Amino acid sequence: MKLPERVTICEVGTRDGFQIEPDFIPTEQKIEVVNLLAAAGMPRIEVTSFVHPKVVPQLRDAEAVMAGIDRRPGTRYAALVPNDKGAVRAADAGVDVIHTVLSASESHNLANVNMTIAESLEKLRAVLDVAGKARLPVQCGISTSFGCPFEGDVPLVRLEGIVRRLVDLGAHGIGLADTTGMANPRQVTRVLEHLMPKFSGIEWTLHTHDTRAMAIPNILAAMEYGVANFDSSIGGLGGCPFAPGASGNVCTEDLVHCLHAMGVSTGIDLDRLIAVSRRVQEIVGRTLPGQIVKAGKSDRKYPVPDGVAGRLPRAS
Ligand code: COA
Ligand code: ZN
Repeated sequence: MKLPERVTICEVGTRDGFQIEPDFIPTEQKIEVVNLLAAAGMPRIEVTSFVHPKVVPQLRDAEAVMAGIDRRPGTRYAALVPNDKGAVRAADAGVDVIHTVLSASESHNLANVNMTIAESLEKLRAVLDVAGKARLPVQCGISTSFGCPFEGDVPLVRLEGIVRRLVDLGAHGIGLADTTGMANPRQVTRVLEHLMPKFSGIEWTLHTHDTRAMAIPNILAAMEYGVANFDSSIGGLGGCPFAPGASGNVCTEDLVHCLHAMGVSTGIDLDRLIAVSRRVQEIVGRTLPGQIVKAGKSDRKYPVPDGVAGRLPRAS
């Protein structure tokens, strides 16, 4: 396999995950999780979102979370915004980078941000203005890039048109999001082959959900095509409240384990990350989908059973 030597992971559990938790996670616990993730060496964290507090009440404490976290040098702190009002709030709160959201399908965009795609693009123009004045880079995420739970297939020409508009507005990075886990590895390759050569100088990120157990295969397909930035969430938390059937993102510690096992570096301390995942399970009060927390790392050894130990052939 042709894989990048190093991959950059952006932890999104504190946003994509905490936004859908049935109970409000207390602000101090959100801050604790962000700090633990940074201390484990996480290079990027999407801390929260600056959206309408009535629409996503779980993240109504976005300002307080940003104000409460320790800023570890080497970690880039981001927040998600849908419009210029969110961008002003995010810039005032001191984010290092702004992540934006719009969908590649009209029905999901209306359900998620109450705007048509054209209206969203106008709002994002204003976001890029705000970010430009605040000297902040902007990564534009596109939900339902690989399929929509309401409309099904998303035509590649439509996706390309949206990317073109975002790049023309001044986006520094594009995040292709598989919001409800509809993508498969061949499709990921096809989409990347179509888009990446057309837009030079853009940093591409793949945002996956493991709804149909295809997240890591999709990431591998993207890595073979040269993508080296991936979103994931601790424990596999996550899901979009405005996309029926959505479930968690690819699990951060499972992805890091897979990458390290293949010799791809991430800069993240996996043992510390696993400890963070255990702490997050305590906070949300349930077992999360991640596998490595349950199975241990692949180098885990069990004691040889009694009846077997005495019958092992002697090594010559
Ligand atoms: N933060 C806080 N308040 C905001 C806001 C923001 N980013 N954007 C708009 N508002 C406020 C406006 O100030 C206005 O307040 P007022 O009623 O006191 O005057 C009110 O919301 C309505 O503004 P409008 O632009 O008409 O927004 P809307 O009601 O159509 O909602 C969004 C649009 C985008 C703000 C809302 O749908 C939203 O926050 N969606 C986010 C969804 C999300 O996070 N999904 C998960 C991520 S994929
Ligand atoms: Zn998502």
